[in-house]
Formats: sequence, structure tokens, C-alpha cells
Amino acid sequence: MENNVKTMMLGTGVAIPPKTLTNQDLEKIVDTSDEWIRERTGMQVRHIVDDETQNSDLSAQAAKQALKDADMDAEEIDTLIVATVTGDVTFPATACYVQDKIGAVNAAAFDIQAACSGFLFGLSIADGFVGTGKSKNVLVIGCELLTRIVDWKDRSTCVLFGDAAGAAVLGPANGDGRGILGTFMKTDGRLAHLLCMPGGGTRYPAQVAISENLNTLKMRGPEVFRAAVTAMGDAAAHILETAGLTVDDVDLLIPHQANKRIIDATVRRMKIPPEKVYINVHEYGNTSSASIPVALNEAKEKGLLKPGDVCVMVAFGGGFTWGSVAVRM
Ligand SMILES: CC(C)(COP(=O)(O)OP(=O)(O)OC[C@H]1O[C@@H](n2cnc3c(N)ncnc32)[C@H](O)[C@@H]1OP(=O)(O)O)[C@@H](O)C(=O)NCCC(=O)NCCS
Repeated sequence: MENNVKTMMLGTGVAIPPKTLTNQDLEKIVDTSDEWIRERTGMQVRHIVDDETQNSDLSAQAAKQALKDADMDAEEIDTLIVATVTGDVTFPATACYVQDKIGAVNAAAFDIQAACSGFLFGLSIADGFVGTGKSKNVLVIGCELLTRIVDWKDRSTCVLFGDAAGAAVLGPANGDGRGILGTFMKTDGRLAHLLCMPGGGTRYPAQVAISENLNTLKMRGPEVFRAAVTAMGDAAAHILETAGLTVDDVDLLIPHQANKRIIDATVRRMKIPPEKVYINVHEYGNTSSASIPVALNEAKEKGLLKPGDVCVMVAFGGGFTWGSVAVRM
């Protein structure tokens, strides 16, 4: 299996806005309580951007850190992918602004939209591009400014989300067995209505969207919860099979940090020891496509992922999308 490894993870980086929003802060904005939020979600704090910061700023910051970690110049990147649902503008792609900000002058740059599964979809594309020789070095960024699109009057959604960016640099494997062991992506568009921002596109152009309050994130929470538990289980089962792994082979599971209860249900389904599961949802809230790369970088920094360790990442998100990636670090 390891001889099939074509793509290696060369570096990671993050950008976390310094400003925080606690459950106590939220108690002053909507009718909620620290107790309710902790019990239902596990969240305590989120990081939020100031008014001046754009997606491309956070993305560029995370990208520069990942390039430094990979000991690589921006000019060496030939493909730059930003996974986001909260880009700077409707078009062009946020990746274009990031390319300019980091000086990745030799890259083809584009965005992908797979909501909270975006970073893993990006890794899957990168693996395909590097594996076929279409690309040499790919920069994948997951970045969201979700606090710009939540409805601050809707207590069922505004307490859940935060802002952040995470990035990874991928390049050709060196033959020692380290790198991407498998990827899995899936979508069920029949569930698109469960989690979306209806306004701002061609269906409800900006002016209509504003007058009908459609320019904010809408979510059917309990239905998303049920779909998420099924999707996470499916993503976990597929990646173990695709990568030829058992649960015992996994050194660290990084689930999308949407809700502690969804993570707990996934852990029970996978029958993986809880000490092998990385959780930081209490510190960041749900940062969508940034959640997994932020956790990955943090786990590396804490020494929880050493060279040779197997890390499995699983995510679900609006679309409905779900996916997973296994990597030997
Ligand atoms: C959003 C979520 C935490 C809500 O928890 P829940 O147990 O399903 O709660 P419900 O939506 O059934 O609401 C239960 C009650 O809590 C209330 N409530 C909702 N948000 C609240 C808040 N922030 N504070 C206090 N009460 C709240 C509801 O109004 C409802 O009150 P009612 O019974 O008087 O009508 C949960 O559904 C969830 O996590 N869903 C998945 C969300 C997710 O992961 N999204 C991201 C996908 S990437």
C-alpha cells in the first residue's frame, strides 16, 4: 500500500484572529447561556476577525506559515487552492487575492466550495494533481470568516461559528512511505437546504437577499446533526477501507470540529479510544473549512503527530458534503 503513496505533506500553518468571543459575550447578544452552549456543543470561545481583515489576509498568513514550515518559496507553488464559503468577493476567486498577497506568481489559483469538508476535498484534489504529475507543489488553504455571514439575531446559529485559516503544502512523496494514504469525498445535494446561505447569488441577488434576510447562514440544526453523525461514520469507514487501515493503525483522528456531541458519536461508531481523538472545538467553535487544518497544525505543534504517525481526518458540511483523508506524517 505504501508504495502507492504519491503525495507528501511538506508543511502546515495557521492564522488565528487574536480577538475572542466567549459564551459570556454571547449571553449579552442573544438569549442564551454558557451552560446551554457548553452542554449542546462543547464550545467556550471562538476567535473572530476585526472589521478590516479579509479572508485573503488570513489565508495569506496561514499560507506563509505553511510555506516556511515546508522550507519553500511561494514561487515554487504551481497550484493554489482556497477552500471557502466566505470569500472576499463573489468573484474572482479568493485564491487570486491570496496568490497576489504571497507572491505565488507561478501558480494556477482557484477556489473550491465544499463547506466544512472543503480542506479535505482540497487535499484530495492536491493528491490527484501531484499523483498524476499535473502539479508539483500544491498549497491548500481552508479559511472562513463565518462571523461575517451569521445572523446575530438567531441564537441557534450565531453561537456556533468562529473565524480562522489553516494551510498545508503538498508535494511529491520521497518514497519512504510517508504521505497521503487515501482520500474519500462524497456529496448528497438532496440535503443542500439543511445548511446554506441562500442570498447573494443569482437566485436571490444581493438586494433581494437583504430585504428578505437571506444573506445570512441558515441551518436546520437537528437535521444537520443527524446527517452529520451518519456522514462522519461513512467517511471514517471508507477511509480505513481505502487506505487499508484498521482503527489500531490510526495514531490520531482529527474530526471536523462542529460539535463535541457529533465528535463523541463518531468516536463511539469508530470504536477508537478517545485519547486518540483531537478536540479543540471548545477553543475555536466551528471554523468550517479551517477547522481540520487548524487542529492538524496544533496537534503537530503539541507533538501529538510525529513523523511516521498515521493521522485520519474526517469532515462533513453543507452541501451536504463529507470526506476523509489518511496521511502518514
Ligand atoms: C444547533 C444545535 C446545537 C442545537 O441543539 P439541539 O439540541 O438540536 O437543539 P434544538 O435546535 O432542538 O433546540 C432546542 C431548544 O433550544 C433552543 N435554543 C437554540 N439555540 C439556543 C441557544 N443558543 N441558547 C439557548 N437555547 C437555544 C431552541 O430554541 C429550542 O427551544 P424550544 O425547545 O423552546 O423550541 C444542534 O442541533 C447541532 O449541533 N446541530 C448540528 C450543527 C452543526 O454541526 N452545524 C455545522 C455543520 S458543518
